[in-house]
Amino acid sequence: MGKRFLFIISLLLIAAGITLTYAVQKPVQPAPNGITMPESYKDWRIIAPSHRSDNNTIRVVLGNTTAVQAARKGKTNPWPDGTVFAKLVWKNKAHENWPTATIPGEFVHAEFMIKDSKKYPATGGWGFARWLGMEQKPYGKDAGFVQECFGCHTPVKENDYVFTHPVVMP
Ligand code: HEC
Repeated sequence: MGKRFLFIISLLLIAAGITLTYAVQKPVQPAPNGITMPESYKDWRIIAPSHRSDNNTIRVVLGNTTAVQAARKGKTNPWPDGTVFAKLVWKNKAHENWPTATIPGEFVHAEFMIKDSKKYPATGGWGFARWLGMEQKPYGKDAGFVQECFGCHTPVKENDYVFTHPVVMP
């Protein structure tokens, strides 16, 4: 085995390593308002599921530890600083073995509300962010996108801008 051969093999291994690392840990870009995607949201617990019949999607709202503790104690108006909600949305799909069962199909988006009354006073104390599809593309042309979120959440101002009611459990 010549030196040149070993050199080429090493180059190939390095290239493969870089490709693999990139594929596994492709970074998610921050939202246009600078919010970065909360890391461990997939491990959070449920606040409530929901279903929208106007656009045929299934949603699940998850909360971080602060959110879940507040929900269990019923201390949700206002939600405490440090609360973070993740809302995950899928298109409706009929279960292949039971067509009347509606299950999550194609993933639509993940969106977040982060309670920090000092940092986000202009939007009710909440930071908003959304990432689209499986590729997790940040939503919004510029930081002004939050007006769309905040605007639609304003009707529930009396409920601290939050629509979701924590599920009732035995
Ligand atoms: C057209 C109205 C509308 C807009 C625009 C909107 N939301 Fe919501 N949002 C809702 C409704 C209704 C719910 C609760 C029911 C549901 O979606 O299942 C909700 C729920 C949420 C929740 C779960 C907590 C809660 O309030 O119930 C998060 C997180 C959230 N939205 C984030 C966002 C973000 C981020 C944006 C902007 C990128 C946004 N929303 C824009 C209507 C809206």
